[in-house]
Order: sequence, then C-alpha cells, then structure tokens
Amino acid sequence: MSYGKKIEWTEALSMGIGAIDDQHRTLIDLCNLLIEVVDNGDQEGVSESVLMVGEEYARGHLHFEEEMLRRAGFPEEESHAAGHRRFEVKFEEFAARYEVEPEGFDMKEVADFVLDWLYGHILKEDRKYADWFAERGGDVDLPDIGESLLGSDFGAVGDKQQ
Ligand SMILES: [Fe+2]
Ligand SMILES: [Fe+2]
Repeated sequence: MSYGKKIEWTEALSMGIGAIDDQHRTLIDLCNLLIEVVDNGDQEGVSESVLMVGEEYARGHLHFEEEMLRRAGFPEEESHAAGHRRFEVKFEEFAARYEVEPEGFDMKEVADFVLDWLYGHILKEDRKYADWFAERGGDVDLPDIGESLLGSDFGAVGDKQQ
C-alpha cells in the first residue's frame, strides 16, 4: 500500500505559539520520514534510528508542552498529560518489540500510529490549549528545556538511507 502524499504544514496545524509550531513541524518531518520508509519498502537501515529519535523527540515535546500548561494553570492539563502518556507507552512498546524481533517488525504500524496522533491529538487536544491561550491574550510562559531533548533532526535520520 502506498501512502503517496506527504504531509504539508498548513495554518490549521498552527497553535499560534512559535516554539510549539516548530516542534510540531519536526513531528511532521517524522511522519513524512515514516511515510517514505514505508513507501520505499526499505525499512531495515533506518527503523532503529527512527524509533529511537522518535521516542526521544516525542518525549521532549510532550514534556515541554505539559510544563507550559502547568505554568499557565491550564484547567485540563492532567487529562492532556494522560493523552501524552498513552503516546509514550505505545512508542516504548514499538521500540521494545523492534528490539526483540526486528525482522518481523512493520514500520507501517508506527506510521499509522504517528499519523493518527498528528491528526487526533494535535488538531483536537492541542487545539484546546491554543484556543485557551488565545482567549487570554496569547501570553505564554515557555519552559526552558535543554536542547538535547528537542534537538533531534529527522532530516539527518532520513539521509542515512542513501
Ligand atoms: Fe503537541
Ligand atoms: Fe499535546
């Protein structure tokens, strides 16, 4: 099966918070890399890096967001964070399964999951806090999180394919 088209950034995906939009753009890069890996049918060389970088990057982004919501006193912070934990648990499960049996591992499952997350979580759940901040004048106190957590570059992972 071919996914065909890659995901492009649109205004609908913008939360109106620069740092968050940048992090979401990187998650879109991850989705596009997964789409490419699945479409090429050549997942061996990159699967491990994609899973490792994906796990690290997602964790960095999710904690950044939660800290931002805590600082602001966003009323639904707890349920938002619970949604993030579900993402982490699933990604840890993928990584663990890959470690045990890389041969039978299907990256399409990861691609489907991340795509669902992108549209289900960002467009619905993240949108809620974006609207909440906007109603309050858009003032956001951004956490200071080390570059190491959010420094992953999916372009570099993709380049390893060549
Ligand atoms: Fe997010
Ligand atoms: Fe979120």
